[in-house]
Amino acid sequence: MNIAKIAVLGSGTMGSGIAQVAAQSGYEIVLIDVEKSLVDRAITGIGKALQKAVDKGKMTAEDKEQVLARMKGSITYDDCKEVDLVIEAIIENMDIKKDVYKKLDELCPVHTILASNTSSLSITEMAAATKRADKIVGMHFFNPAQVMKLVEVIPGLDTSQETLTVVTELSKKMGKVPVNAKESPGFIVNRILVPMINEAVIALGEGIGTKEEIDTAMKLGAGMPMGPLALADLVGIDVVLAVAEVFHKEFADSKYRPALLLKQMVRAGHLGLKTGRGFYNYKK
Ligand code: 3HC
Repeated sequence: MNIAKIAVLGSGTMGSGIAQVAAQSGYEIVLIDVEKSLVDRAITGIGKALQKAVDKGKMTAEDKEQVLARMKGSITYDDCKEVDLVIEAIIENMDIKKDVYKKLDELCPVHTILASNTSSLSITEMAAATKRADKIVGMHFFNPAQVMKLVEVIPGLDTSQETLTVVTELSKKMGKVPVNAKESPGFIVNRILVPMINEAVIALGEGIGTKEEIDTAMKLGAGMPMGPLALADLVGIDVVLAVAEVFHKEFADSKYRPALLLKQMVRAGHLGLKTGRGFYNYKK
């Protein structure tokens, strides 16, 4: 099966990063969100990122224009009627996702694959909202999607081998390294990374080190490119908490309990980079 047109649902950090990478890899993209202002902001951001690449001499101005010409913004799912693949990167809420998958199943051509960028939710459960469970798959990118090389490819219970092959090949064409992961909360990376970030937040709450000391220790002592608290700010503290809560519920094991401080940060609206304040302050 040949993929030419892709819809990306959700114009947040992950959706816009994925849309940028896909358009740079030659695919025709429609980036869909619920409000025009959100889509416009994402496409403006992509334009700025591409301009930076031009300024650094990593891309020609002509290439930039071609990438942007391959992208269109939209606020209607009707634009999924002509795509070969949908990459869904909307909010991590199973009820909302199920509604979206039901709608996509009704709208999309029979050959269209529906891939979810979910961090930790069940692909099988999303697939059950459709009549094409063989074409539902996890395609999990990492933040920043423009830079991080990995894509986890996750089958649900009824995902076909053909769907897995198409998504694996597509990931390679997007310059990524696909790794298969079984369906299980958090798959591979988040299963290991999120408990580590949660532990860093517990350590901070216990005063084992300051935020700077914890991050410096993990950078210099464990070779992380950025410390776990700075990484939580990058990923979104709400996202980290949502994943931690899925683990706690699904594994029913107290070792996955989310740190109280993580909950407090979310309750206070300090979600990290995207709100200007998380463990660190990003307001100028
Ligand atoms: N968008 C696009 N490009 C970006 C970027 C962004 N948000 N952030 C950095 N870059 C680019 C820079 O432009 C630069 O490009 P260049 O080499 O062409 O000049 C390159 O990446 C390196 O950036 P910097 O020199 O500014 O900074 P670093 O070398 O420190 O790299 C980093 C930044 C790539 C973010 C690095 O710190 C890193 O790898 N951090 C860890 C990220 C990580 O672990 N992500 C996974 C999170 S888990 C997840 O996403 C799963 C989810 O489900 C929760």
